Amino acid sequence: PLVTTTEMFKKAYEGGYAIGAFNVNNMEIVQGITEAAAEEKSPIILQASAGARKYANAAYLKHLVDAALEIYPDLPIALHLDHGADFEICKSCIDGGFTSVMIDGSSKPFDENVALAKKVAEYAHERGVVVEAELGTLAGIEDDVKVSEEDSSYTRPEEVQEFVDRTGVDSLAIAIGTSHGAYKFKPGTNPQLRFDILEEVAKRLPGFPIVLHGASSVPQEYVKIINENGGALKDAIGVPEDQLRQAARMAVCKINIDSDLRLALTAGIREHMAAYPDHFDPRQYLTPARANVKAVVKHKIAEVLGSAGKA
Ligand code: G3H
Ligand code: 13P
Ligand code: ZN
Repeated sequence: PLVTTTEMFKKAYEGGYAIGAFNVNNMEIVQGITEAAAEEKSPIILQASAGARKYANAAYLKHLVDAALEIYPDLPIALHLDHGADFEICKSCIDGGFTSVMIDGSSKPFDENVALAKKVAEYAHERGVVVEAELGTLAGIEDDVKVSEEDSSYTRPEEVQEFVDRTGVDSLAIAIGTSHGAYKFKPGTNPQLRFDILEEVAKRLPGFPIVLHGASSVPQEYVKIINENGGALKDAIGVPEDQLRQAARMAVCKINIDSDLRLALTAGIREHMAAYPDHFDPRQYLTPARANVKAVVKHKIAEVLGSAGKA
């Protein structure tokens, strides 16, 4: 059924695991994710960005998710707006059947972030919808906004309690060293998330669900396949999966993954195209691409997030 994240997060917090939030942009991605979640009996969050709604058309996205709900009636699925930039897009998603929205005021001054998140939370809660907000800024690329490393900043634990109290939001995304996209760390460096910040946040917000954005691990086998078949992804590096496992055992209840799905899909298409230059039926190359998406999600659920069997 279509659910909010309330129950999912409560169980995940208590059970020391996390729910995967996977970005959806087209039919094959929705199919790959939901087939994986159904086989692993895992609750799942399908999230759509503003860019996804523009690309696919909001109605298509909603109906693709409705189709998945019809096919897997027992699977708990939350439909979430990823990185809502203003009240209007949040309202549009709340009115349009989403069960969860993110209002991302992380680039605004603290008080503006508070005011915006509070306004969205009030509107959402009156309609049974839950809200995620963000404190601290990640480096990387979101839609067409690129945040440089100098402009990114870790979450300040001393701010989180006031923020949650004043806004009434249901979960909080924090910045502890992850970033969006496929180029998260410099080659030759040792990627290390700031678990000390996460711990400090958790201490100040006991039992409160924390969200990790930019959590793709950038599987090197897919980077290799892409590069061996005409691609040019240089030094694509993600978050080590062991650190995601650790985050999932801590207060992190939602782990956002998009880039890994893009890589899996692209690797499937490039590999097929190179092997069968005579093929031109999209079903031929989208079948292995979709299977790659499914494989990534199964792996995340069963081997990283720990949400298998929790549906
Ligand atoms: O946070 C960014 C997500 O990967 C969504 O990306 O805005 O290009 O759809 P997008
Ligand atoms: P990645 O780019 O690491 O997949 O992050 C996705 C994300 O945070 C979506 O909100
Ligand atoms: Zn994000």
